Amino acid sequence: MSQNDRLSLPFTNGSIDVADMGATLVLRARPSPAYALFDRQKIFCRQAFYPTYQQLANAGFAMDRPLPDEFTHAIVHITRARDETRALIAKAYTALVPNGVLIVDGDKTDGIESHLKAVKKLLPVTAVLSKSHGKVFWLTKTGTPAALTDWLAAHEPVQITDGYYTRAGVFSADKIDKGSAQLVPFLTGKLKGNGADLGAGWGYLSKQVLAANPAIISLDLIEADRHALDCARLNLSDERAVFHWSDALTHAAKTPLDFVVMNPPFHQSRKADPALGQQFIAAAAKLLKPNGSLYMVANRQLAYEATLEENFRHVERLDQNTQFKCIWARKPKH
Ligand SMILES: C[S@@+](CC[C@H](N)C(=O)[O-])C[C@H]1O[C@@H](n2cnc3c(N)ncnc32)[C@H](O)[C@@H]1O
Repeated sequence: MSQNDRLSLPFTNGSIDVADMGATLVLRARPSPAYALFDRQKIFCRQAFYPTYQQLANAGFAMDRPLPDEFTHAIVHITRARDETRALIAKAYTALVPNGVLIVDGDKTDGIESHLKAVKKLLPVTAVLSKSHGKVFWLTKTGTPAALTDWLAAHEPVQITDGYYTRAGVFSADKIDKGSAQLVPFLTGKLKGNGADLGAGWGYLSKQVLAANPAIISLDLIEADRHALDCARLNLSDERAVFHWSDALTHAAKTPLDFVVMNPPFHQSRKADPALGQQFIAAAAKLLKPNGSLYMVANRQLAYEATLEENFRHVERLDQNTQFKCIWARKPKH
């Protein structure tokens, strides 16, 4: 997550007067130097990704206060998902009073230029500034074009293949992930007791695991993306499923677990970076009983072997093809 100060530009160059800011809605809020310019009492931050939400809460932002009916200003930090970002822009714009100001900030790699183009087709954009491989643009609320109402729809869950609910912006929003599907056959009849799915997403792996293992007593779905977890709630009606909006790297289970399953996330910059997945492996080991098992699937090129050996006494590769590897690691070293 970049912490550049591009968002500060329209405020520091006098284009938008901070003194005029009343209640201000900030969608996909993230730590940003610009926030130091604002009166904290007036900014209302929303963030669905738990670690970022927690970072802001720790920095003293009141994350969950009820929203006022109207805002004089609204800020959108774009996400990588086009339709999710459009819905955020529409939501922020709709929440403004007439003549309220909408500010949109984002990196080129996340698609800020195409959002600028799309917004320009609907509304007059006041100005655009470029900095740090991205843009910030802003506009004043006039009417509300009908297309914006269509953009809002992306905030709702939709049913995809096999009746699963997902929504724009969540991991693998339009299909079942091939990696998770590859792990499922290795889990049939293998799991019992209390377990967890780290990074459970919209619940595909958890649902399959519960269906194929009647001896499971409980399964904690631990997921950082609240929108994905909301979809998982729609996808799983099994009473053994327990939903946690939480950070898998710091989550504490009530009791040590018999098993963990996971398809861990990895940072995707230019090259897939295994550091996050490695932290997931260490977190899984900590959650397990001395005799517990971790079953995981990962992109084949991600270097997890050394971390698995560091954290578990037995590591076995169950399957590997050109894309994915499925691994069973037993008996954490703790
Ligand atoms: C590769 S996806 C796996 C999704 C799901 N298990 C499936 O079967 O499709 C990884 C998931 O981890 C979540 N995630 C990323 N960082 C996380 C964290 N720190 N704590 C918990 N979940 C996280 C992502 O939001 C994503 O849903």
